[in-house]
Amino acid sequence: MINSNGKENSEKEGVYAEILESSDENIKICAEKIREGQVVGFPTETVYGLGANALNVEAVKKIFEYKGRPLSDPLIVHVTSVEMAKKLTDIDEDTHKLFKLLADKFWPGPLTMVLKANFDVISPILTANTQYIGIRFPNNEIAKKLIDESGVPIAAPSANKFCHVSPVNPFHVFEDFKEFPISIIDGGVCNFCMESTVVKILNDDKKIQILRMGAIAPQELETVVKSLELEKVFTVEVLKKVNQLTHIGNDQEAPGQFIKHYSPKLDTYILDEEELDNVLNISEYKPEEIVYLDYNKILFNKFSLFSNNFLELSEKGNPEEAMLNLYDSLRAAEKKENAKLIVLCDLSKHMIDSPHKNTLVDRVLKAAAYKKINLK
Ligand code: TXA
Ligand code: MG
Repeated sequence: MINSNGKENSEKEGVYAEILESSDENIKICAEKIREGQVVGFPTETVYGLGANALNVEAVKKIFEYKGRPLSDPLIVHVTSVEMAKKLTDIDEDTHKLFKLLADKFWPGPLTMVLKANFDVISPILTANTQYIGIRFPNNEIAKKLIDESGVPIAAPSANKFCHVSPVNPFHVFEDFKEFPISIIDGGVCNFCMESTVVKILNDDKKIQILRMGAIAPQELETVVKSLELEKVFTVEVLKKVNQLTHIGNDQEAPGQFIKHYSPKLDTYILDEEELDNVLNISEYKPEEIVYLDYNKILFNKFSLFSNNFLELSEKGNPEEAMLNLYDSLRAAEKKENAKLIVLCDLSKHMIDSPHKNTLVDRVLKAAAYKKINLK
């Protein structure tokens, strides 16, 4: 087997992961691994997933172990039909109707629906003891083939170490998990480069609650709810609005909503010129020690006299382009030679209104663990 450096895998080097091209034969081999209880990295339209047989508790535990993920953070299960999803749930007829309507509109695609779990079929570990299971039908041919060939639903979080930046190509997965015996199917770069939108259907409260913003913008969900003529019955609510996401605390309103998430391995801050307590003197750093992750050349225009160490999310200030570049750029920033610090452009101030703005602001805030800095 060849690893991503093009070398023979060698146990001496401690490299056990491998990247496989996405031939039908390799997908069959990986499906067999899933059936045997092993872990496989695979592409989806959002980000890469670290998958295992959702019906095998031991296999599911391996995902938590490899990721270093706390058992309090539930996993999403991936399916290839509404029927397959329904078997994992224990929902009343009304909830099922709404689930089916949303599935018809959004599946296959980047919408994860959180529903009451059927514990005759799945283990509470998958649900992190919440009673609820998140399910989605990915819109990616390789993912679909892998699920169909293995014949079981596949539990898969994003294929990154806990709190690290989500992976949008197979090399990102390899970097995080090279020491583990996983096969990674190469499906190139993901389409959205942003995770699925996670919603909880609260039939009793007549609410569709967005637990995690993602590839489907809240406006898009609202439009669909209206088109289904459900707007008088159901409201779409974002659990925690971005303008409320300003304080640092340990409270989690939903499982898996951590303050620090999607974060590079270096100290990461958002540039905030109103910040008075946390001010850094640039001259104490060598130019190459600070990496600027820019948007619309805002940071470049301020600091190009001091540095040429800029990465751009979107030179022309296009939010969609910024979404495609965000995770790859965060990973590129942490890998820059001699870098000690990453400074991010404040998208909340500098991005024009767009359907994905709040999602991007959320990710950038969490990448910096809400830490802000002023530079002089
Ligand atoms: O796009 C995606 O959703 C990717 C691809 C691989 O499908 N998966 C992904 O999984 O992002 P993960 O584990 O990295 O993030 C899923 C998040 C969890 O952290 C949690 O916040 C929420 O979805 N979630 C999953 N199941 C849930 C549940 N039963 N109740 C509440 N939140 C849940
Ligand atoms: Mg994740």
